Amino acid sequence: MPIAPRELRNCLGRFATGVTVVTASHDQREHGMTANAFTSVSLDPPLVLVAVRNEGRIKPLIEGSGRFAVSVLAEDQEPIALHFSGRAQPGLEVGFGLKEGLPVLTGAVAHLTCVVQQALPAGDHTLYLGLVDWLWYREGRPLTFFAGRFFGLEGAPLDPTELPELEGVSAPRLGGPPGHTLVADYP
Ligand SMILES: Cc1cc2nc3c(=O)[nH]c(=O)nc-3n(C[C@H](O)[C@H](O)[C@H](O)COP(=O)(O)O)c2cc1C
Repeated sequence: MPIAPRELRNCLGRFATGVTVVTASHDQREHGMTANAFTSVSLDPPLVLVAVRNEGRIKPLIEGSGRFAVSVLAEDQEPIALHFSGRAQPGLEVGFGLKEGLPVLTGAVAHLTCVVQQALPAGDHTLYLGLVDWLWYREGRPLTFFAGRFFGLEGAPLDPTELPELEGVSAPRLGGPPGHTLVADYP
């Protein structure tokens, strides 16, 4: 049975994720792209993966420089997520820092910089496996994405390192305001 894209999107939308902006810099050009197809892969060596659509304007910058950075957005950064997914946000000011020549976004809860280890063509996307060579994180709740909408994570701890060990503790229920902005047309 062929899989209808709409059904696939609905189904995969049940998989809640964080939201990142992947950035790259090459030939004095910089670009950022909102991405939730980001995942941790390996602790030793430290590897992460990001899937970039083949028409993505960031692709030649990642391939030209062999590097990319990931900023994990904070729960108040929905406008940033929209901006870097091609939806203009009039009046939005985007703050950058520079790490190893790579732009990272001010206000994020975590940053990583990576060297591309492998690029794997995968349908209409390319998978970039990155070896993490620097990281930073802070207290704060992440922005999340579920069923095409952005959510905060009210009820989640600001500093997850202070949580008790997982064993014998049932997962707390996370409450909070309902999701907002409908994102109708990704990808
Ligand atoms: C929440 C969210 C997650 C997204 N995740 C990805 C992703 O993982 N990979 C991707 O290629 N595009 C993803 N997109 C779409 C890109 O952000 C969008 O196509 C963007 O316009 C690409 O930048 P460009 O137009 O400058 O190439 C996502 C968009 C949103 C809103």
